[in-house]
Amino acid sequence: MAFLEMRHIRKTFGSTVANDDVSLSVERGEIHALLGENGAGKSTLMNILYGMYPADSGEILLNGRQLHLAGTKDAIANGIGMVHQHFMLIPEQTVIENVILGNRGNPFVLNLKEQARRFTELAAKYGMEVDPWCRVDQLSVGQQQRLEILKALYKNAEILILDEPTAVLTPQEVQGLFRMMRQLTDSGCTILFITHKLPEIMDVCTRCTILRQGRTVCSMPILPGADQHELAVRMVGQEVELALHKQAAHPGEEVLRVTGLHCARSDGVEAVRGVDFSVRSGEIVGICGVDGNGQSELIRCITGLLRPSAGEISICGTDCSGAGVKRILRQGVSHIPEDRLKMAVVKEMDLCENMILMHYDQEPVCRHGFLSWRAARLQGEKICRTYQVRMSSLTQAVQELSGGNQQKLVVGRELAQDPKLLIAVHPSRGLDIGATKYIQNSIIAARDRGAAVLMVSTELEEVMELSDRILVMFNGCIMADIRQADATREKLGALMAGIKGGQTCGS
Ligand SMILES: Nc1ncnc2c1ncn2[C@@H]1O[C@H](COP(=O)(O)OP(=O)(O)OP(=O)(O)O)[C@@H](O)[C@H]1O
Ligand SMILES: [Mg+2]
Repeated sequence: MAFLEMRHIRKTFGSTVANDDVSLSVERGEIHALLGENGAGKSTLMNILYGMYPADSGEILLNGRQLHLAGTKDAIANGIGMVHQHFMLIPEQTVIENVILGNRGNPFVLNLKEQARRFTELAAKYGMEVDPWCRVDQLSVGQQQRLEILKALYKNAEILILDEPTAVLTPQEVQGLFRMMRQLTDSGCTILFITHKLPEIMDVCTRCTILRQGRTVCSMPILPGADQHELAVRMVGQEVELALHKQAAHPGEEVLRVTGLHCARSDGVEAVRGVDFSVRSGEIVGICGVDGNGQSELIRCITGLLRPSAGEISICGTDCSGAGVKRILRQGVSHIPEDRLKMAVVKEMDLCENMILMHYDQEPVCRHGFLSWRAARLQGEKICRTYQVRMSSLTQAVQELSGGNQQKLVVGRELAQDPKLLIAVHPSRGLDIGATKYIQNSIIAARDRGAAVLMVSTELEEVMELSDRILVMFNGCIMADIRQADATREKLGALMAGIKGGQTCGS
C-alpha cells in the first residue's frame, strides 16, 4: 500500500479538462517529481491534494485512509503543505506577519519578536535568509519565493508540495533548497516537486510521474544517469526541438544609455550605486547576479517604475530620467517584468483586454478615437497562435491560464510590438523546455531585426547562451562587462560573489 495515492482524478473547468483520470502513487520519504508541459494539469492536481478545490471524481488515500478535503484547512490538518506557483503573500504586511498568518493561536499572547526569532533560526538553518521585519512589497521575486518556502516549513508539513519553487532562484539557492529537501525527507517528510528543469530532477528526485494533456503518461524511478532526453520526449509525446539559432551579433547605434545611476529603496538603503552601461541595437546584454543585488531596482528605474536618486537614462537619444511609464513605453520599449501577475497583466481581465493593455489608444486597435475590438481580437488570436498560448477562448480571464501559458502571453504581447528596446526579466520563467527554446529563439530574432535587448536572468545557462555581452551585478554595482566568448561559469560565479581579481569587494 502506498503512503499517498490519488486515484482516477478528474477535474474540469467549463469545457477544459484539466485532469482526466489521473493517478499518482507516492511512498513515504520520497521526492517525487511531477512533470509535464505547460497546461498539462500539474498545478490543478496538486491544488486538489491541497484542498483548494474538489475533484469532479476520483479519490485521495493517505495511509490507506480516504481523505475528504473540504478546504485547505483540512489538508493542513492532515499535514499537507503547499508552496504555490503564484505567491500567496500579502504585500502590505511584513515577512513575519505573512508567516504567522492563519497560524496565530491566541491573539492575546502573540509574541511577534519570539516568532521572528524562530523564523530567523529556521531561515538560517536552510541558508535562505529573509529579513522578518521587511515589508513583502519590498522583496524581489526571489526573496518572495524563499519566504513562501519558509512559510510552508514553519507549519511543519509532513507532505510538502513545491510547485515550481526554483523558477527564479539562483543556482546556489537551488542547491540550498535541495539540501533542505534531502534533510526533510531524511526526517520522514514526503515531497512532491514540480519543475521544468530536467537536471534538477536528476539531482534530487527518486521517482517521477509524467502528465500530458491532463492524463498520466507513466511513473518511473529516476536512476543515476537517467536519460533526460527520454523524459522530454515522454512529456511532449514526440521529438522536441531544443536548438538555439544564434549567429554573431552586429550591433548598431546606441539605444539605451545609463549614466551614473543611483537609486534608493523606500527604506533608504541604496540599491543601485553608480551604474554605467549602454545597450546597442542588434545586441543582447544579459545582467546576472545573485538576486537582490540591485538588478530589480535598476530595471524599475529604466522602465519608469522607480525614480532614480541621481544619474541619467537615455533611450534612443531622448533623456528619460525620472519619466513615467507611459512616456518610456512610447519610446518603443517593451517590458517583460519579473512578476507577470502583478506587473504585466490584470489577472481578472480577459486575454483580449490584456493584449491591448498598453496600446488601446493606438493604431491598429484604435482608429479615429474608437477602439476596434475586432482588431484587438485579431491581434490577440495571432499572438496566441504564434506563441502557442493554451487557452479555451480570448474571453477567458488570464488567471485561468496555467502559469507557463500566462508567461507565453506576456512575452508574446511584448515581442509583437517589435520594440526598439526590449527589457526582459526572467523571460523563460515557468516555461516548459519546448516553450523556453521557442521564446529564446524569438528574442534572438528580435535582436536580429535590430532590437536592443537587456535581459536579466538568475539562470546562468540562459544568460551565457543568449547574451552577446554579460554585466555582472553585485551590491548595486556592475562588477564586470564580459563578452560572451570570454564568459565561464567560474568567472561569473566569482564576480557574482563579489570577488574580482582575487579580491573580495566591500559591501
Ligand atoms: N481556475 C481555472 N479556470 C479555468 N481553467 C483552468 C483553471 N485552472 C486551470 N485551468 C486550466 O486547466 C489546464 C491545466 O492547468 P494547470 O495550471 O494545472 O497546468 P500546469 O501543468 O500547472 O501548467 P504550467 O506548467 O504552465 O504551470 C489549463 O488548460 C488551464 O487553463
Ligand atoms: Mg502550474
